[in-house]
Amino acid sequence: MKGAQFLLDARLALDVLSAADRIGLFAALSERPFHADALSRRCDLVPSRMRRLLRALEVLSLAQFTERGWISCGPVTAVRGLLVERDLVAALRSGPAVDASVSEDAAVLYQQGAIWLARMMAEPAAELAPSLSGLGPDVLELGAGAMPWGLALGDEVSLTGVDLPAVVHAVRDWVANQADVSWIEGDLFTVPLPKDHFDLVLVPNLLHLFSPSRNEALLRRAVAVTRRGGCVAIIDALRADGEPADRSRALYDMSLASRTGEGRVYDEAELRNWLKTVGLTPTTRVRTDVSPRMDLLLAVCT
Ligand SMILES: C[S@@+](CC[C@H](N)C(=O)[O-])C[C@H]1O[C@@H](n2cnc3c(N)ncnc32)[C@H](O)[C@@H]1O
Repeated sequence: MKGAQFLLDARLALDVLSAADRIGLFAALSERPFHADALSRRCDLVPSRMRRLLRALEVLSLAQFTERGWISCGPVTAVRGLLVERDLVAALRSGPAVDASVSEDAAVLYQQGAIWLARMMAEPAAELAPSLSGLGPDVLELGAGAMPWGLALGDEVSLTGVDLPAVVHAVRDWVANQADVSWIEGDLFTVPLPKDHFDLVLVPNLLHLFSPSRNEALLRRAVAVTRRGGCVAIIDALRADGEPADRSRALYDMSLASRTGEGRVYDEAELRNWLKTVGLTPTTRVRTDVSPRMDLLLAVCT
């Protein structure tokens, strides 16, 4: 059956991750390198089974054997987030229990998850950085969370982030350890923002949370704060024009159903329409090779 091997592998990989998490293996590997025998004692597993578990993590690129012993590698923190249980049936029937399109709920969700999300986005952010650098020194990141996209631009830019007060409070120190940034705390849709001020406005991982009408309103705000000739960068998972069914995006759309009552994965054509309506002209289109595969649509403010 087509796709059955993928489903089987996905199910078994989640079992492996869950087991490694529950016996404390990820926690041990994040402390220091360990040899398999020491890990088996610490996690209370017979040595032969610990070695099999480590080999399974190795093929999933989450553990690696070095001269000093086993170490964790890859996006372990991000992967552990996959183990959080969500009730998709309840969400599909009556909407998500925590709805990120509502600011009070977004505050709860992202004060816990923003740093995790930033770690997961670090690789795509590094890949997109060359397409976003050199556009000017003043950069605003809307719905910044822990600011992965702005931080990837390095110290040649002056960064300002907008997010809800609880989220800024949760990420401020983590971000400050990496760069000197300014924060505007408040609701994206209403907080006062400086007009015609920024050279580049990032709208990353945001539009998928909201309805088309709110996205249009958000993009109007992005245009209002951008200097003439400046750019607005939409970074999101988009369904590209004429693209055949994309497994990752279809599954991601389902995962969005469990955390936003309004949003979804949008078609690129729909996004291009919003851009046109608010006076933005697309210039650059990139999809990252590294995962999670993210789409950049860069547009100039004319
Ligand atoms: C999916 S996260 C993306 C975070 C970050 N841009 C990234 O790519 O890692 C959405 C972010 O938007 C923020 N957000 C959602 N609704 C908001 C609102 N009404 N006002 C301000 N920030 C909001 C959330 O707190 C969260 O940090």
